[in-house]
Amino acid sequence: TGRVDIEALIDRMTLEEKIGQLSILADSIRPFAFDVNPDSFQWGPDRTREMIRAGQVGALFNGVGAKEGRELQRIAVEQSRLGIPILLGADVIHGMRTVFPIPLGEAASFEPELAERTARAAAVEATREGLHWTFAPVVDIARDQRWGRVAETTGEDTVLACAFARARVRGFQGPDLTADDSLLATPKHFAAYGAVSAGLDYNTVDLSPQTLFDVHLPPFKAAIEAGALTVMSSFNDINGVPATANRELLTGVLREQWGFEGFVVSDYTSDFELIAHGYAADEKHAAELSIGAGLDMSMQSGVFMDHLAALVGEGKVSVQAIDTAVRRILTVKARMGLFDNPYRSLNEAPPGPAPYLAAHDELAREAARRSVVMLKNDGEVLPLRKSGQRIALIGPFARDRANLAGCWNIFGDPSREVDLETGLRAALADGDALEVVEGCDFESAIDGGIDAAVAAARGADAVLLALGEPSVFSGEAQSRTQIVLPAAQLALAEAVLAAGTPVIVLLRCGRALALGPLQRAQAVLVTWFLGSQTGHAVADLVFGEHSPGGRLPVSFPHDSGQQPYYYNHPATGRPYVPGGLEAFRTRWRETDHTALYPFGHGLTYGRIEYGAATLDAPALAWDGELRARVRITNVGERAAEEVVQLYVRDRVASRVRPVRELKRFAKIALAPGESREVEFALSRADLEFRGVDNRAVAEPGLFDLWLAPSATAGEAVQFELLAAQG
Ligand code: IFM
Repeated sequence: TGRVDIEALIDRMTLEEKIGQLSILADSIRPFAFDVNPDSFQWGPDRTREMIRAGQVGALFNGVGAKEGRELQRIAVEQSRLGIPILLGADVIHGMRTVFPIPLGEAASFEPELAERTARAAAVEATREGLHWTFAPVVDIARDQRWGRVAETTGEDTVLACAFARARVRGFQGPDLTADDSLLATPKHFAAYGAVSAGLDYNTVDLSPQTLFDVHLPPFKAAIEAGALTVMSSFNDINGVPATANRELLTGVLREQWGFEGFVVSDYTSDFELIAHGYAADEKHAAELSIGAGLDMSMQSGVFMDHLAALVGEGKVSVQAIDTAVRRILTVKARMGLFDNPYRSLNEAPPGPAPYLAAHDELAREAARRSVVMLKNDGEVLPLRKSGQRIALIGPFARDRANLAGCWNIFGDPSREVDLETGLRAALADGDALEVVEGCDFESAIDGGIDAAVAAARGADAVLLALGEPSVFSGEAQSRTQIVLPAAQLALAEAVLAAGTPVIVLLRCGRALALGPLQRAQAVLVTWFLGSQTGHAVADLVFGEHSPGGRLPVSFPHDSGQQPYYYNHPATGRPYVPGGLEAFRTRWRETDHTALYPFGHGLTYGRIEYGAATLDAPALAWDGELRARVRITNVGERAAEEVVQLYVRDRVASRVRPVRELKRFAKIALAPGESREVEFALSRADLEFRGVDNRAVAEPGLFDLWLAPSATAGEAVQFELLAAQG
């Protein structure tokens, strides 16, 4: 923790100064509750400065600017009694000025090292603009696509989420937390925020302990093991106890089981919201319950600053409890080097463009390209030729620049964003060979739009149909009842598909969607929200400069009503068997209990063939290791990348286990004709789950193992986990 003696500092602090450290406020917005008149939100910078000077606030968020930050830090360090530096935080979720794909998109790359690089680039940009701390990565598991925040997650799988959680923490924080460009990371939202009932944001979470521990908690643990020093508590309740006042989670799991040494910050007013939950009687009670559960820093509600002193006076909260939270926060500040160098990350940037801009644009283009998933490519309609072909770009996203970034990007630089039309024209030998027609608006028809679109489609050799969800359909409080395209876009799609020209759908979305008529297109590219370089990245793929290499991090269902849907669901007693007896099986009246495109699916311009999976032994010893191998060959004529996925199923266990679970994955590049063997090692730890006594167990017995290109492909081989000797 550098040169500062934290215990000596705590000894010198008044109770008011200690309580001050336990609050984070949005710059210039006064602490508020949702029932306050919005006109009175604005507090004004002078009041914020007074608070800092009086040592009444420990951190600020969502303001930006090294100059402004330096000014505020100067007040904290030079004008407050004890000179304790403040922390400056913000939501830097998928890029700062350079916008990278939404996290769901980056997850589709199945390349955590890519996310590490984009997080590092975001940290370089954010710290250059006066930030110390980001409220990211989002490590929630999203199994219900109606939820609006699926876009911010890595999707439905826990192993994938863990890998990205580690990578992003490493990327944001870098190797040295005291470095000027290190951005403190915050895995969020602790916990099980992605499990809100019916995908309705903020809704109740009714969750078994085994699903909580097996599915939702591991990415938090992974992020903490990778060095994360703060965690954000979530808005939801879990089995009746709000996360922000959940002692079992904030103290039992985080501190006692995992030994977490950092601090917990609430989500925006989530402590105050204990009142609306009917869990706290009033603000004072909310403060008492949340600090008692293990919350260290209150975001924006003001309940700590307004009530902790009285609670201490009444003996309801001990000074030791306050000291514990203060110690954690000051320790993180010290570990970031803020006591030794309070102006770290607050140096004014030299005039002129930042030196990294070109490199970050290139990285944004690469990340965007690697995030795209090709669901289908009938008749190898893709890639298109750059000349000698007339192309119609149709749809409301064709020229649009407002929906490139996607949700939760507050600081993106619009001047560096490349829309579809611009990117495609730049790639075409003859830019005039591209005709562009919107056809409809995002949610409404436009006069003559469909006629113009059909005429353009008829006059073209290929149609790029740019449809999907606008940004506002994703993000906080943006849950949907139906995961479908708006009616106006569906009408456009039907008309264009009927024109008879081959159609390639460029699907913009922040979640898995039910494709409806889009499934009849010859090709579908899922392009999520790809960020600043959208147009160039899509052009790179459409014209075959690169092969699509993304894989689905969420299952695409047949039907909108199939939610929640996730590939690793527990086995039912009457599983659906394709082609078998249909009655009295686990299926919907309208469709099977399967995905249209499963988790892990994605095509390339190569042609990938899998050999048979082999094991180095028929059994895995209790303390041993099992090696599984498969030969992968690109029999096609174009270079491609393959994501080799290892799944297992526990055949008989003391709890019903998932039909398959991802355990390992690796992305490999294969030149045309190239063949490579891929090997993974498994050990007992990979086979553990929460047993009936709520402890982690692995049970000896038979397991199925697949080495496959998706969650539903491949032939299983069996192995046995042997019991411990003696
Ligand atoms: O970090 C966010 C969180 O994800 C949702 N509520 C607001 C916070 C701070 O902006």
